[in-house]
Amino acid sequence: MCGIVGYVGQKNNSVPVLISGLESLEYRGYDSAGVAVLSNGAIGIRKTKGKVEKLRDLLLEQPISGKVGIGHTRWATHGVPSDENAHPHFSNDDKIAVVHNGIIENYQELKDELQKKGYVFHSDTDTETVAHLIDDYYKQGGDLLEAVRLTLQAIEGSYALGVLCADHPDQLIAARKESPLIVGIGENENFIASDIPAILNYTKNAYILEDKELALVKADGIKIYDIDGNEVSHEVYTYKWDVEAAQKNGYEHFMLKEIYEQPKVVMDNLSKRFSADGKHIELDGIKLGKAELENIDQIYIVACGTAYYAGLVGKYLLERMVRIPVNSEVASEFRYKDPLIDEHTLVIVISQSGETADTLSALKLSKAKGARVLGIVNAVGSSIAREADDVLYTLAGFEIAVASTKAFSAQVIAMYLITLHIAQELDMLPEKDFLEIKEAMLRLPSQISDILTKAVPAIRKFVNKYISSKNVFYIGRGLDYVVGMEGSLKLKEIAYLHSEPYAAGELKHGPIALIEKATLVVGVVTQEALFDKTKSNIKEVKARGAKVLAIAMKGNDGIEEVADDVIYIPRTHWMLTSILANVPQQLFAYYMALGLGEDIDKPRNLAKSVTVE
Ligand code: G6P
Repeated sequence: MCGIVGYVGQKNNSVPVLISGLESLEYRGYDSAGVAVLSNGAIGIRKTKGKVEKLRDLLLEQPISGKVGIGHTRWATHGVPSDENAHPHFSNDDKIAVVHNGIIENYQELKDELQKKGYVFHSDTDTETVAHLIDDYYKQGGDLLEAVRLTLQAIEGSYALGVLCADHPDQLIAARKESPLIVGIGENENFIASDIPAILNYTKNAYILEDKELALVKADGIKIYDIDGNEVSHEVYTYKWDVEAAQKNGYEHFMLKEIYEQPKVVMDNLSKRFSADGKHIELDGIKLGKAELENIDQIYIVACGTAYYAGLVGKYLLERMVRIPVNSEVASEFRYKDPLIDEHTLVIVISQSGETADTLSALKLSKAKGARVLGIVNAVGSSIAREADDVLYTLAGFEIAVASTKAFSAQVIAMYLITLHIAQELDMLPEKDFLEIKEAMLRLPSQISDILTKAVPAIRKFVNKYISSKNVFYIGRGLDYVVGMEGSLKLKEIAYLHSEPYAAGELKHGPIALIEKATLVVGVVTQEALFDKTKSNIKEVKARGAKVLAIAMKGNDGIEEVADDVIYIPRTHWMLTSILANVPQQLFAYYMALGLGEDIDKPRNLAKSVTVE
């Protein structure tokens, strides 16, 4: 989604800092880019629809430079992607320039009032309102910080803002509400950024702004204020991620690199999670003991996208192993349905970025209703991590590709650990069974490596065979159905193929009508208890001309009687198959997208972190 970077310091020209920052934010998804810099009391702005590369070309043709600057990548919400709608937006006399992430919900009424006052708008964006409003307050009072503060009080919605003013050539103003923004701390130079990669080349230290705070950023100092104008102090947060984590290290795409990182990610998420005697799960930071759990009569798992599917894996496991009713909901539905939750509900929210707007709102709603909220989060220090009652970090490291892979695996591991922990606390898991599952879990990293080494040639062969597919169905039962949902999402996201996941038993109730000669059906068949049932469903689609690519567990060779092609995963415990079965799906989506020539790391219309509703 949109990205912000800003610089104030000793460098004669901030443009290279801004451009490299914007390039590091490209992975988040965007459709236009722009910069504004201040020099000799005037603001220069260059912006364009399209990639940062295009902005770079524009800057070569029409250079600007200045010691203070802001940059932005836009993901369109109000108005189409265009040069005019790209940020920065500026006031009518070009004195004030603004970049913004988020949505100003009351922009129309503010715009009407500003137009009555004579302000002329050049874009369809909500953001332009902010530039004019700051200008209006500034003209009335002559104090820029105060003008920004009054603007924040007038606007409704979410924002991360960077503001430049021609009258103040030594400063930037930043503000945030429900959209992340950090102030990076350098030596005689400081930064603002919507995400740490934008400034990681220069600093790992930053202040994480809280909601409704604004920062006055100069080269030699940073002051942070609340919305009432009181100065507040913040601790310096030091990011552990290094620049290398944000590089491809020889892989053609970040997505492939991240797929190959999964054995390590899974290992990292398992090590130190077992007690010294090896007989219990230890989840540091989580205070969900027997007493707390006995007070809980239902669980909600709430998330978006891939994280939602990781949560669904959790639902199937928790219900089966701890016999507590579990509802799994996408956050955008949960937050508006007046969910039936109270202080006897455990709400588990899952988010890689920790900043997804709907998930964050679902968390806040759950807390307001008295529920206990456990966050499963990858980004340390993110909003969801800070607001949840308990946090289990997923230790997946930086995930750059828009299509989530290693973060999903880490989230699924988190669901395994939580399920086992709750089952043990509630005395529902005999030690013998626990030890069997634990042993199987510890084999997962080498089993994933095994799939990555052995399955790729076969998958590439199947991709060649199925590359012209136009419609793809993923079918399975139980946990296999959930895995199919994630596989189908991956194929949509990066290969732009129409694909639908279906509960295998539900096919006959409609979608089977769409099966015709050569329709590709991916059958996930790893749940041995359901093997024969899904096999029958595969026969049904075969009888109607479908081609079937099955993902099965070693030993279930019977699948070869019905499927055209089979990819086997190593044998494991029934509750752990999802993580293994998903790896061939990731590779299949990746190589399909590669074969179709798509922009794998930056798929069209998608954003890595969705910070607006
Ligand atoms: C976007 C991303 C997905 C991600 C989803 C939830 O749609 O493209 O990859 O699964 O958001 O993101 P979160 O950061 O909350 O896990």
